[in-house]
Amino acid sequence: MRLNKKLLLVTSLCGGMFFAQSFAAKPKDDDKPTNLKILPKNISEKELHNIMRNFSMSLGVRCNFCHVAQQVPGQERPQMDFASDAKSEKIIARKMMQMTAAINENYIGKMIGGDHTLESITCVTCHMGKTTPIVSTDSLTKQ
Ligand code: HEC
Ligand code: HEC
Repeated sequence: MRLNKKLLLVTSLCGGMFFAQSFAAKPKDDDKPTNLKILPKNISEKELHNIMRNFSMSLGVRCNFCHVAQQVPGQERPQMDFASDAKSEKIIARKMMQMTAAINENYIGKMIGGDHTLESITCVTCHMGKTTPIVSTDSLTKQ
C-alpha cells in the first residue's frame, strides 16, 4: 500500500519524461542518497536524477536552486551537498511533491472521466518553467 503510493508518486513526478542525457559527475557507491523523505529510499540513481532534472526543467532552475552549493578554493565547480536540508526551497519542494501527489491521488485519480482523459498533473503543469507560477487574470485579457 505504502509502496504503491510511492511508486505512483514517482511515476507521476516523472510525468512520462525521460532524459537520455546522463550526468557529468560519475556516480560513486558512496553517492547513495542518505536523506530521502518522500521518494523511495531504494530508488535507482537514474530514476532519482531523472526526477531531479524534471524538477529543474519544470521550474527553469539549476540544481543549486534547491541544493546547497559551496565554492571550494582552487576548484572550478562548486561542491554540492545534495543531502543537506539547509535551503528553504528544498523544504518547499518536498511539500510540493506531497501536494502534487495528493492532487493526483485524491482528486484527479478519483474523477469519473466519462469521455475525458484525465492525466495526472506534475510540477510543470503549474510552474511552466518558472519558480513562481503566478499569472494574473489581467494579463490574460490583454492581446
Ligand atoms: C525544485 C527543487 C529541486 C531541484 C531544482 C533539484 N532538487 Fe534534488 N532534491 C530535491 C528534494 C526535495 C529532494 C529530497 C527528496 C526526498 O526527500 O525524498 C532532493 C534530493 C536529491 C538527492 C538525494 C540526496 C540525498 O542524499 O538524500 C540528489 C542526489 C539530488 N536531489 C540531486 C539533484 C540534482 C543533480 C539536481 C539538478 C539536476 C537537483 N537535485 C535539483 C529538490 C530539488
Ligand atoms: C497546483 C500548482 C503547483 C504544482 C503542481 C506545483 N507547484 Fe510549486 N508552487 C506553486 C505555487 C502557487 C507556488 C508559490 C509561488 C509564490 O507565491 O512565490 C509554488 C512555489 C514553489 C517553490 C518555491 C519557489 C520559490 O521561489 O521559492 C518550489 C521550490 C516549488 N514550488 C517546487 C515545486 C515542485 C518540485 C513541484 C512538483 C513536485 C511543484 N512545485 C508543483 C504551485 C504549484
